[in-house]
Amino acid sequence: MEGSAFSQWRMDLLNQVRGNSILEVGVGTGLNLQYYQKAGFVDKEIICIDISHGMLQFAERRMKDTHINIKLHLMDLQNMDFPDSYFDTVIGTCVLCSVSDHLKGLREISRVLRPEGRLLLIEHVLSYRPILSSMMKRTGPIIARLTGENIHRETVKDIRAAGFKVLEEKDLYLDIVKMINAVPDIRGD
Ligand SMILES: C[S@@+](CC[C@H](N)C(=O)[O-])C[C@H]1O[C@@H](n2cnc3c(N)ncnc32)[C@H](O)[C@@H]1O
Repeated sequence: MEGSAFSQWRMDLLNQVRGNSILEVGVGTGLNLQYYQKAGFVDKEIICIDISHGMLQFAERRMKDTHINIKLHLMDLQNMDFPDSYFDTVIGTCVLCSVSDHLKGLREISRVLRPEGRLLLIEHVLSYRPILSSMMKRTGPIIARLTGENIHRETVKDIRAAGFKVLEEKDLYLDIVKMINAVPDIRGD
């Protein structure tokens, strides 16, 4: 799913970052790293995690092309080794669809995020459109078995269930690729 549109979406996501401490979950091969540089995040603390050692090796190579201070860690986002309320912003692109228990992961993100922090995501999610949704529900389990990616998750609903308030849910491609901006729902509504 890479290309100029996706590059612009990654940049648009980073433009919504608040604060100085940033966590990127599921950094993969590090496709977002160049945008930290382009966004001029020289003074920020940026920590990126992934559950895959192989992915982190690719990310490490990409990191060397930037002049930004980025730390890479092998870590499961469902069980992170960070204190409570540590990060100002948590970022993820195309990650929650591949996490085995994404609700657990979202609750863990909520734990490490400051109460006034932000969760910024680009995710592909189950369509709200009846025909597309029923096709995705039928093919989703097969695709998940073959690729590990769950294209039929109701991620926006699950973000709310994990204790976030969704400020913006922007459709990027149909209504199945979305940019999501959420904050901890400290009032619980
Ligand atoms: C589809 S890739 C996306 C990578 C990158 N964010 C991007 O935009 O290109 C999903 C990534 O999430 C990672 N991942 C899956 N489950 C994870 C977990 N529980 N904790 C941390 N990373 C995880 C995978 O190893 C993979 O690198």
